[in-house]
Amino acid sequence: MVSTNSSGAAPSVVSGNWQTNKRLATVWDRGVKSRPVAMVYGAVVFATDNRKMYRHMASAVALPEGTSVLDIPSGGGVVFLGLRPGKPLRYVAADISDLMLDRARAEADRRGLDFVEFEKADATELPFKDEEFDVVVSYSGLHCVPDPEAAVREWSRVLKPGGAVKGSVVVRGASFLPDRFINLWVKLRILDVVTPVEEVRRWFRDAGLRVVRTETSGAVLYFELEKPKDRKA
Ligand SMILES: C[S@@+](CC[C@H](N)C(=O)[O-])C[C@H]1O[C@@H](n2cnc3c(N)ncnc32)[C@H](O)[C@@H]1O
Repeated sequence: MVSTNSSGAAPSVVSGNWQTNKRLATVWDRGVKSRPVAMVYGAVVFATDNRKMYRHMASAVALPEGTSVLDIPSGGGVVFLGLRPGKPLRYVAADISDLMLDRARAEADRRGLDFVEFEKADATELPFKDEEFDVVVSYSGLHCVPDPEAAVREWSRVLKPGGAVKGSVVVRGASFLPDRFINLWVKLRILDVVTPVEEVRRWFRDAGLRVVRTETSGAVLYFELEKPKDRKA
């Protein structure tokens, strides 16, 4: 099965791969949750320091009581590493892949995170209301969807005015070796649309999201965005 889109857009082969390729789902999720593996993978493939990824994720979910959070795509729940049992957040983990959502459910169980909700969702057409969330977190996901610009517009739509986005995306143009790996990963249908940083910034701007801070580490762009208070969905 591949992902489909009610607007009639062509189904995404890459999203479909994440839905059906159990080996890909397992290897990614185990790797990203193992710091030594993630450090080596990040350094070799994307010339990045993945310690930044764990720090960024932890800061993204260090939030006041009652905050509503959408984690899209949640994958197997690596961001849960920063959550605590009994934490009074509304936390929705969404992903297009049942393989990943099953892994995320198991991760939440292991950690006693009974407040986490799970939703099967296409990042480019989210099944959530306008202005439903205070915070969107999105790590290592935009480069896996067929229309990342639509995904960014969806973050903006589901965020309350004044809401925040934190996440990361792989970008082209960092250096020779990461660009070669990006080409290979695209060919292997692991990554979909990967662009230079300027293009990603344009998606944010066009979606009405203000850039609070960005930081690059090798081929990974970390971002913190805000939906201005005066902007409606
Ligand atoms: C590289 S993983 C990252 C997952 C997680 N954020 C992490 O850091 O481990 C990419 C994820 O994007 C999901 N994905 C791919 N296409 C998608 C789509 N169109 N909508 C929602 N999720 C999608 C995959 O199922 C996979 O879980």
